[in-house]
Amino acid sequence: MTATLSIDAVMALAPVIPVLVIDDVRQAAPLAEALVAGGICALEVTLRTPAALEAITEMASVPGAVVGAGTVLNGAQLDAAMKAGARFIVSPGLTEGLARSAANSGAPLLPGVQTATDIMHGLDLGLERFKFFPAESSGGAAALKALTGPFGGVKFCPTGGITPETAPHYLAIPQVVSVGGSWLAPRDAVAAGAWARISALARAASDLKGM
Ligand code: 3PG
Repeated sequence: MTATLSIDAVMALAPVIPVLVIDDVRQAAPLAEALVAGGICALEVTLRTPAALEAITEMASVPGAVVGAGTVLNGAQLDAAMKAGARFIVSPGLTEGLARSAANSGAPLLPGVQTATDIMHGLDLGLERFKFFPAESSGGAAALKALTGPFGGVKFCPTGGITPETAPHYLAIPQVVSVGGSWLAPRDAVAAGAWARISALARAASDLKGM
């Protein structure tokens, strides 16, 4: 039986949570191994491909990997992802239905927010950890820094358009625990099985710090 991690613990595993799109389930285990070898352990598999749920199950058996599901839009998808072996749930937004499903099943949830009103809605639902999404096109690190002011106890994982160059600006904000990004596993590298390249990208990401 795998231990349940809090969303805080998941966010703190590494400075970057890779956002993964998996086309072929045979890519899943070697991709997880490559990322874990580079020090990146919390892995978000997006429910955007038919292979996603099976990929979560495959990756969950890789030692050291803590696999979650991303692009989770409703309670039914949350339940399917948890059944497949996901240990955390990421959503681009926040609905009461999703928050209720997460509370009922005990799934650690990282829902997307973009505005102060979104954050207040989340707080009303008992949530205090959010994905700031889409980070770069919502004003980037400067916008997030301004948003953190009124919400002292809230912590964030900004995601959306973040690069190795911009990540340190977000990580310098005290309320940012980690950032999300797809750059660690470029789709062409995954398709080509370029695992050493992905491990190197992961290693560089695990060394990222705020500046
Ligand atoms: C997403 O597609 O969920 C996020 O935007 C992460 O991808 P990106 O790092 O390519 O923006």
